[in-house]
Amino acid sequence: MISGRGSNMVALIEACRDGRLDAEVALVLSDRPDAAGLEKARALGVTARVLVPAKYRTKLDGDDARDYAEAFREAGVDLVCLAGFMRVVKAPLLEPFAGRILNIHPSLLPSFPGLEVQRQALEYGVKFSGCTVHFVDSSLDGGAIVAQRVVPILDDDTPDTLAERILVEEHALYPEAAGLVLSGKYRVEGRRVIRT
Ligand code: GRF
Repeated sequence: MISGRGSNMVALIEACRDGRLDAEVALVLSDRPDAAGLEKARALGVTARVLVPAKYRTKLDGDDARDYAEAFREAGVDLVCLAGFMRVVKAPLLEPFAGRILNIHPSLLPSFPGLEVQRQALEYGVKFSGCTVHFVDSSLDGGAIVAQRVVPILDDDTPDTLAERILVEEHALYPEAAGLVLSGKYRVEGRRVIRT
């Protein structure tokens, strides 16, 4: 699920193609017709559809969320990956795909959830940031953490330079984390995702 550029989506497609991820990207859904990722998906031969929610601007809920769930069911989807999808996903999609929806976030959660994440990290003054893949629940960037990568913050970083270095790590982390979840070789104890 995308809303924009779709570089993590491309990273997932490429990882499937080069064998790092034993999976296939069956369907890309965007809530925005102008998402640049749509053309990138199609250029890679992946079905990409736009489903513009009729209600709400910042969440995916009600019939809109049910439409997404139905599209994923029809496409035989086992795992849903949010990749720059700019809405909070609610129960009608979360419930049928419980434990099977991941998100990637460009900080070391629980630090700096939400938006303008790199600016938050720089302003706070942390010396390390990074990226997190986590299960999606009804909270904002709050589900159990599957995997993280650390990126040092440099004295001359700007939000853009930091975002660029974190993005490189995101592209490697997301396929790894998706592979772990698809393999089923983990268990969840409380908030801890433990490899088995
Ligand atoms: C990434 O930084 C991701 O962590 C965040 O939104 C951005 C999406 O970038 N959730 P892209 O669309 O995958 O290029």
